[in-house]
Amino acid sequence: MSGFLAPTSPEITQREIRNQARVRAIAGDCMVLLKNDGALPLKQKGRIALYGNGARATVKGGTGSGDVYVRETVSVEEGLRREGFVVTTGEWLDRQERAAAEERKAYEQSVIDAAVAAGQTEEYARMMMILNPMTPRALADITQDDVRNSLTDTAVYVLARNSGEGRDRSAEPGDYELSGAEVSNLRFLAAQYEKLIVLLNIGGVIDTKPLREIPGISAVVLTGQMGNITGLTVADLLTGRAIPSGKLTDTWAENYADYPSSGVFSHNDGDVSDEYYTEGIFVGYRYFDTFGVRPAYAFGFGLSYTSFSLDTEAVKTEGTDILLHLRVRNTGSEYAGREVAQVYVSAPSERIPKPWQELRGFAKTRLLQPGEEETLCIRLHAASLASFCPKCSAWVLEAGDYILRVGNSSRNTRVAAVVRLPETVITEKVQPLFRDPDPSLEEIVPPRSERTSPEEDAEIASVPKLTMDPSAFVLKEHSYASLPEVLKKKTDRLIPFDDVAGGKAELDDFIAQLSDEELAYLMVGNSVDNVGFNSVLGAAAKTLPGAAGETTGKLEQKYGLKQMELCDGPAGLRLTPEYIEKPDGTAVGLGGMSFGGDKAAEGIRHYQYLTAIPIAMTLASSWDLNLIASMGDLVGSEMEQFGATLWLAPGMNIHRNPLCGRNFEYYSEDPLLAGKCAAADTLGVQKHPGYGTTVKHFLANNQEDNRMFTNSHISERAIREIYARNFQITVEEAQPMSLMTSYNLVNGIHAANNEDSVTRLLRDEWGFRGMVMTDWLTTSDLSFMLAAGVAQKYGKSDAALCVKAQNDLIEPGEKPDFERILAGLREGVITRAHLERNARNILTLMLRCHLYAHQSYHFPIPGKCITFTCE
Ligand code: BGC
Repeated sequence: MSGFLAPTSPEITQREIRNQARVRAIAGDCMVLLKNDGALPLKQKGRIALYGNGARATVKGGTGSGDVYVRETVSVEEGLRREGFVVTTGEWLDRQERAAAEERKAYEQSVIDAAVAAGQTEEYARMMMILNPMTPRALADITQDDVRNSLTDTAVYVLARNSGEGRDRSAEPGDYELSGAEVSNLRFLAAQYEKLIVLLNIGGVIDTKPLREIPGISAVVLTGQMGNITGLTVADLLTGRAIPSGKLTDTWAENYADYPSSGVFSHNDGDVSDEYYTEGIFVGYRYFDTFGVRPAYAFGFGLSYTSFSLDTEAVKTEGTDILLHLRVRNTGSEYAGREVAQVYVSAPSERIPKPWQELRGFAKTRLLQPGEEETLCIRLHAASLASFCPKCSAWVLEAGDYILRVGNSSRNTRVAAVVRLPETVITEKVQPLFRDPDPSLEEIVPPRSERTSPEEDAEIASVPKLTMDPSAFVLKEHSYASLPEVLKKKTDRLIPFDDVAGGKAELDDFIAQLSDEELAYLMVGNSVDNVGFNSVLGAAAKTLPGAAGETTGKLEQKYGLKQMELCDGPAGLRLTPEYIEKPDGTAVGLGGMSFGGDKAAEGIRHYQYLTAIPIAMTLASSWDLNLIASMGDLVGSEMEQFGATLWLAPGMNIHRNPLCGRNFEYYSEDPLLAGKCAAADTLGVQKHPGYGTTVKHFLANNQEDNRMFTNSHISERAIREIYARNFQITVEEAQPMSLMTSYNLVNGIHAANNEDSVTRLLRDEWGFRGMVMTDWLTTSDLSFMLAAGVAQKYGKSDAALCVKAQNDLIEPGEKPDFERILAGLREGVITRAHLERNARNILTLMLRCHLYAHQSYHFPIPGKCITFTCE
């Protein structure tokens, strides 16, 4: 039991104030400057004409389980006022607020009416609204009077978008595209004001054509969604206190149709059941660069107030590593700034088709004053340049020339060196995994082209040519574990779990004494006795109000086994903002997702206000792994305070297509960047002994529509090089305490039931030592959702098969899960050995968590450095 740890005073705490300041300090590092004609930063805090749907209704982060319930969200309007600007468009902002409220009311009424007509309650309808958020589109007209009354030459336009789990975005005006009203607003304002600054308060890529075409737009900044103090960070951007140095983590296309998955993605082709990953490994810039499609903004792009030179001082090999020494100099005279050096590599592709180039390393400078310089050293392990060869079931470095490019975006690079490998090297042998995809999956074939462009000839002639010794590589091979023998019970004495924790008994002896039923309880979360909404709202925990789930309480009385609390993320900790502790020791949640329960109950009121940190996409835009680790550390400190053992974050799925409704919760289209970010986040959280992350959602979960029954048809190569590669990096570098499987199927098998991913890939190949859990209600009867338009072509995942796959914990865990596990045992689908194996995974984690571990205990952190530094 965690007890009730939240403060009983409603006053803002020192922790909140401190953590908000920490978030504010990183704002500039995360913001991406897309255009600036010199308007930014503003020279003084004066009058601002503020417009746009995000001006007052600023989006701090997305909706659903990725939401964080905060004390207050500072809107852009409020942030500007607090920082001494005078916002002169109050009347327009009032009109806009009314228009948005009317739109919201109409939407809510339509959902309630539909639910009631289908025999459901209003409360159910409100739950469905959380799972199917509305993107606000209403926009009030801007008139000549608004402009006249604003008494300023400077307009700021906040263009906001919101999305969340359960629904994908659409390629329509008002969502991916700018609405007609937004376009005419911008045209009008650009003509009326001397300066028009457009701020993108968004969590996913949008169409930027109008922003590039309308004359008179002075500056465009991707401010992203910075959490509950977003408005203050915008004020800092305008004053120059925050200097933007972020870079895009995705390719922003000229046209939505340029994305190779645009034709088939989610609802685009009317089929939300089968998703064919026909682009294979050619995701994001890997596609645009290889197929010669010009993006609007390239992957890795971001401007600065100043200018930089980026020179390669030296490139050398050290065993099988390549070291690049890069000198970055602030060549401007007025502003300080930070630059990101990015290393892309083109590999030979005689036998295996390859992307034109791939990001292989990056590093960000400190803040450089005008004239100041810094030498960055980036170390690449040559083995990490290997490609997966499906025919040979191996990772292979093909013989030939590896072209190393260095630059500040994927489209602005110079050749830095050529590394020659005289012979082909197999770096790693693996088992073939993931049963063959549907034969109708036909992957696109890249054009045969040179690995370099003609413009690079002169560069290539002048750079160092190095040779790598093929015999220096050590072949990596794996053994794939078989199921251990059933344990033998050695004693009739009851072994309490504390004896194991205290070193007085062996874990295996503790497990051997458990009955099949007790083992089955351990395998399901604590909602086995819950009925109704409590168990389905992502707010199922009994001891930490608002936690999404917890491990079983069924073994507490007899064996003293405590419960771990599992809390959502990734933009902070999602907990019920307030709750009442009743005299009987139970609690009633107030606010957030606390549906049901007696809100008028008598008792002690507690306040759980947490810090909303920037969304993952915004954090990743910093390209600063230490910064991301510091946000993990912030969350870790809040987990310690409130007793949340596992954070259900970071989310790290690949941005396969801009329309995925959860892209804001994820980092990038690139697996290296995403994997490094999640590793950094994990190391930050796990700095707190006994508290850990849950990386999610494994595997190939890139669509939200029909998310529980969509089948990702995908090649083994695309899985290994793109969709699993990010998870691999995080597991190998940071050993997250836990991992969450996804809802979807992969080549016809539910990710939650997939032994290839959860056992062979994750544990046998990558060496994962933590616990695996399902996503919420993966195995449940969701007929109630079918009424809401879910297409169930494929069956639901199976609790017994979760156990078989080594998916240790079913969350939130319902009675039918428990019963199904026991039925699976009777039917021979699983054996007691499966239950014991999974119990060992769960209990080993428990021994290492704060509930048991000695305070100095750290979950094993491998020695590797998360940045690419050379030390
Ligand atoms: C989401 C997960 C989340 C879980 C618990 C699910 O709907 O997909 O990301 O952690 O709910 O709230």
